[in-house]
Amino acid sequence: MRPLWQVVLMALLGLTNFGSAQRDILRDIVRALKEPRPATELLARTPMFVITNDESLFNFFRSHLPPVHNAEFVPLKDLATRLDEMLTTERSVVVLIDRSRGDLTIEQRSLLPYDLTLIRRQDVMDVVSHDGTWLARGFANPQSEVPVRIATWNPDERLDEEWLWCRLQQAWRRRQELSIPDETDAFRLVYAESDFLPGLIADCYADFVVVQLSTPAMERWRETLAAMLTELLNPKGIFERGDMDTRLREKLPPRVGPVRGETPPERLTITENGLRFWVDVWKGHKTGFYLDQRDNRRRAAPYLMGERVLNAFSYTGSFAVYALRAGAKEVINLDTSAEALRLAEENAALNGFEGRVRSLEGNAFQVLRKFRDEGERFDAIVLDPPRFAPTKAVLENALRGYKDINWLAMRLVKQGSYLVTFSCSGMVSPELFQQVLFAAALDAKREVLILERLTQSRDHPILLTFPESEYLKGFLCRVE
Ligand SMILES: C[S@@+](CC[C@H](N)C(=O)[O-])C[C@H]1O[C@@H](n2cnc3c(N)ncnc32)[C@H](O)[C@@H]1O
Repeated sequence: MRPLWQVVLMALLGLTNFGSAQRDILRDIVRALKEPRPATELLARTPMFVITNDESLFNFFRSHLPPVHNAEFVPLKDLATRLDEMLTTERSVVVLIDRSRGDLTIEQRSLLPYDLTLIRRQDVMDVVSHDGTWLARGFANPQSEVPVRIATWNPDERLDEEWLWCRLQQAWRRRQELSIPDETDAFRLVYAESDFLPGLIADCYADFVVVQLSTPAMERWRETLAAMLTELLNPKGIFERGDMDTRLREKLPPRVGPVRGETPPERLTITENGLRFWVDVWKGHKTGFYLDQRDNRRRAAPYLMGERVLNAFSYTGSFAVYALRAGAKEVINLDTSAEALRLAEENAALNGFEGRVRSLEGNAFQVLRKFRDEGERFDAIVLDPPRFAPTKAVLENALRGYKDINWLAMRLVKQGSYLVTFSCSGMVSPELFQQVLFAAALDAKREVLILERLTQSRDHPILLTFPESEYLKGFLCRVE
């Protein structure tokens, strides 16, 4: 097959008006194009489409290009309809973007100080500073708010199938070195950017692997990935849970179903630290189970003892099962989902704890208030709410929500008992969450000691150059 080169140049302009500063940047870019640097070489000799929301920007750009470029203006609003045409010709695609209008954003914040050139070859995009310095390589999606997801900072790494196979093997080796498969047969094998595989999540559930693909590159590799995962782990089947929001944001259609091998049953069982759980990989949250809480379940268990433990936002009651094994007499699972609560009861039974869980279907904000009004007290409380702050816009409300439930929980635990409290909102830093707890403790008039700081399990590692990979934080507290 002949190589199909697609080139994208993004001039990220900082101001609304197209003034002299922008002209200087553009001149630099044009100069860079004419210089025989490897990254810009292609641009210097290819005809191109130029996509921009500003025709004057286009005209200026064209006036500085030699005629060979035969530049054609494509308004940004036509990008979606003309994309197929652009991707199937050998013409380059040059995108001129005014950053101030927020047309596109770059996910890797560390790149923002640069005026970037993004050079694209099918799904793979090189990020080059305006003076031609190569910076990084990632996966492109011009349809997405995030046009490039960085996969490597090494110019020698080609993001091809050989690379994919290598990265999958490394991800598996990391889990083995951490002895995670000895603790459980349910774990995250690939955590996207943190395993240097942006756009891919792969979770193992006993004999099945559940994948989530969220970039066009991974989408195109679906079959290849399934073949590689089969060679790596020899599972009974590979299943796709492509019904998450990130796919919508990337303009990829939802997709749920088997990809290769056997179709998983409606629910399957997994073993985690010697406990067994039912998992619904078809309809359960995320890919079926909160694998990110595994280490926290183990660490919190010794504190979840006594006559009565409240597991608020329980989902399928995983913390409850750990608490029962640790010696709690009874655990109340509280959740809005009747289906999750049913599975929570079955999970208790699966481990021989039938009759020791109670299900409360309801809104935790109201139920906790009712408990307070009725003078109820608990020997330990777990609070693991869903993501209250998916975006910055709702952060303030989210903080109010976190404060509210934590304030109530601090009132409801007996003196000298334990509260294990989490936030999985990426927007809420551990420091901010601690401040929320401080405010909650003041209002509840309780002294609260932080005994342990908690984070996501080791199979969800946090990549320092990708701070967005950190989202789960928790505090194990003693409430006096
Ligand atoms: C992050 S999950 C809990 C995961 C669980 N701790 C585990 O480890 O399996 C959050 C749960 O909160 C439930 N939920 C959402 N809003 C709620 C509300 N207002 N009151 C009670 N439960 C709620 C969801 O149904 C979901 O099961």
